[in-house]
Amino acid sequence: MTYQVIYSSMAAENLSMPDLESILVDAREGNKRRGITGALVFVEDVFLQILEGDRDAVQRLMSSIEKDPRHSELHVISESEIDQPMFTAWKMAHLSPAPEQIAAWLGKEGTASVQELLADLHRMPDQASCLAEGILTALAE
Ligand SMILES: Cc1cc2nc3c(=O)[nH]c(=O)nc-3n(C[C@H](O)[C@H](O)[C@H](O)COP(=O)(O)O)c2cc1C
Repeated sequence: MTYQVIYSSMAAENLSMPDLESILVDAREGNKRRGITGALVFVEDVFLQILEGDRDAVQRLMSSIEKDPRHSELHVISESEIDQPMFTAWKMAHLSPAPEQIAAWLGKEGTASVQELLADLHRMPDQASCLAEGILTALAE
């Protein structure tokens, strides 16, 4: 079994593209060491991250990520045990989809703000698996 956690957070004010790049460098190096895979979505100052791997390793990483000043307001959307890791091809994939794209992954019609989508995800954590599937499909395109 693989432990998978999906969380949202708010980027620090004035987070720049080079800052995002260095988060991805840290994530990819750190995850290689820890045997963790996943994806980082960045959309309108919101992070959505999927981390998967050994439960203890993911939980230890989560406590380190939680203290990172490059973001705040970290809230876990879902935690689950899955049969197989989904993102084995990526130490940390990155994508910045339009909010409409995320809405489509969640099966929502029309447009919605990122904050509305986040509220939905937190209210209906079962939808997190649709998010993970949507990200995976988008990465394969
Ligand atoms: C949004 C965000 C996502 C991150 N994702 C990861 C990650 O997937 N893996 C990782 O090792 N570090 C990640 N980091 C960086 C960690 O917070 C931290 O800087 C790093 O794990 C420190 O590694 P160390 O404890 O081995 O020195 C992330 C940071 C932010 C702000």
